[in-house]
Amino acid sequence: MFATRTQRFVYQHFLKPWFFRRDPEMVHDQMCRLGHRLGRFHAGRTCLSTLMVYRHPMLEQTVCGIRFKNPVGLTAGFDKNAELTQVIPSVGFGFEVVGSVTARPCEGNPKPRLWRLPKSKGLVVYYGLKNDGADQIQRRLRDQSFEIPIGISVAKTNDAASVGVNEGINDYIQSLKVLSQTGDFIVINVSCPNAYGGETFVDPDLLERLLSRVDQLQLTKPLFLKLPVDLTTKQLDALCEVIDLHQVDGLILSNLTKERSRKEIDQTELVQAGAGGISGAPTKQASTELIRHAYRSTQGRYVIVGVGGIFSAEDAYEKICAGASLVQLATGMIFEGPQLIGEINKGLVKLLTRDGFDSITEAIGSAHR
Ligand SMILES: Cc1cc2nc3c(=O)[nH]c(=O)nc-3n(C[C@H](O)[C@H](O)[C@H](O)COP(=O)(O)O)c2cc1C
Repeated sequence: MFATRTQRFVYQHFLKPWFFRRDPEMVHDQMCRLGHRLGRFHAGRTCLSTLMVYRHPMLEQTVCGIRFKNPVGLTAGFDKNAELTQVIPSVGFGFEVVGSVTARPCEGNPKPRLWRLPKSKGLVVYYGLKNDGADQIQRRLRDQSFEIPIGISVAKTNDAASVGVNEGINDYIQSLKVLSQTGDFIVINVSCPNAYGGETFVDPDLLERLLSRVDQLQLTKPLFLKLPVDLTTKQLDALCEVIDLHQVDGLILSNLTKERSRKEIDQTELVQAGAGGISGAPTKQASTELIRHAYRSTQGRYVIVGVGGIFSAEDAYEKICAGASLVQLATGMIFEGPQLIGEINKGLVKLLTRDGFDSITEAIGSAHR
């Protein structure tokens, strides 16, 4: 890792102001194209790695039988079509979740569908699961080898045809059949706030029906469930009671918030934004509280992946101490720059050392002890 402070300076003073004057989706698409190109060339990857990757044995761990070089992952929604899997390790991430992928290709909601909230440090997201569909994404990934663990996030196709409960379940099952042999782990996303028909499977009875069908597939890879952030602890407990009856290895806590009245959101910024869920700082506290509650109440039965508003090593560490084995982010990288991943990993080593831990594993859930 080379001159992180210089990278931060360049991002904050030159790149970010330039990006933030342009349409957010256009910038995102351009960055994805650039990342895809860089990832195709050994020289591009090596150059980036030299600048950005921070390694340390204290950060390594095995979770669900998968080896992670560090606990910081790219969250779902950034690499919707699995085009960045070759470059993401060179940015310093320890793993990546691609997608969310749906059974049929999805155009997503009409544009505009992404807005920045600079003061609130968040994004309003109304993509509506834009992606190339399970078949094409499976073909894109099948012949690749990966330097880091890759999770595949599967969601219900965002159209009227999969809005019914049975149709919705069939849609998930179809994607899982296509993608079950791809990558290292599977994520079932039941918490997209922007999909046609809403978050059907956050209802415990309907989640039961979905997971019963998923059980029948006898997936051989670890399975995670991604839940909404706008849950009370009582609702989370009710979902965990259902999850307990099925073959689920972990929880991803959590997705975008729909609660626009959250105190972290500067209301004046929402005037220019459209409908959609909000990412970033406004989700930070709520997701950490869910992690804390889930860790305590499920007593380590599930691996927890913490996501929502991570902008620093301290933010990541707070989620780890609350009970997360791994963390993920997207908005933090957009606001702080891609050097953030190395900064977080380096900062985590400092925090672990400060608190007398020999490894990241020892810190997981330490706030409860
Ligand atoms: C542009 C964008 C698109 C997203 N799309 C998805 C998605 O397709 N599937 C999903 O599970 N989460 C999606 N999310 C939610 C993120 O994975 C994450 O849960 C949320 O943004 C909180 O993390 P952050 O504050 O680090 O961004 C998306 C987030 C953003 C910003």
